[in-house]
Amino acid sequence: MVVGKPFLTAEQIQDKVKTLADMISRDYEGGELVAIGILKGAFMFFSDLVKHIKVPLTIDFIIASSYIKTETTGEVKIYYDIREDITGKDVILVEDIVDTGITLNYLRERFLNRSPRSLKICALLDKKERRLVDVPIDYKGFEIPNEYVVGYGLDFDDKYRNLPYIAIFKKRV
Ligand code: IMP
Ligand code: MG
Repeated sequence: MVVGKPFLTAEQIQDKVKTLADMISRDYEGGELVAIGILKGAFMFFSDLVKHIKVPLTIDFIIASSYIKTETTGEVKIYYDIREDITGKDVILVEDIVDTGITLNYLRERFLNRSPRSLKICALLDKKERRLVDVPIDYKGFEIPNEYVVGYGLDFDDKYRNLPYIAIFKKRV
């Protein structure tokens, strides 16, 4: 297995993170936010993003993982849930990558059931080609091709999350 050279450099990522944070700050001006990071993958993106958001906010996390059983059904397991009461609040879900869409779709419905005032989604990467379930991405970083990527929070076998850039991960032939 090999990690290729940066596909998205640390600088490209940081520029995009600032752009997304500016959009969010503008959209929620005068209000307050609850930012929810989806762990583990979003940990680095989440911490960089909130540093640049100018609106008062509280943070919380959820640990979720999806298991694809067949081509079209996936099950999402929650290992840790948010502690905040989001009823009547403006909420942003922050995710590293949207692949099939199963995880975010599940979490979105789960949080909508708790009657937030609004619920939006911010995802750094969008692997559109792989989508099985439609999910609205309100703040999107980059659309990427159907390649497995690691770094900047994203893992292979729980490794490479600490890389400050994103690289394509290839099986050595
Ligand atoms: P989805 O439910 O298929 O959209 O899965 C999204 C989750 O799968 C993400 O939160 C990631 O943890 C993981 N994932 C999907 N694609 C990749 C990838 O290319 N690299 C690393 N993790 C990925
Ligand atoms: Mg993830």
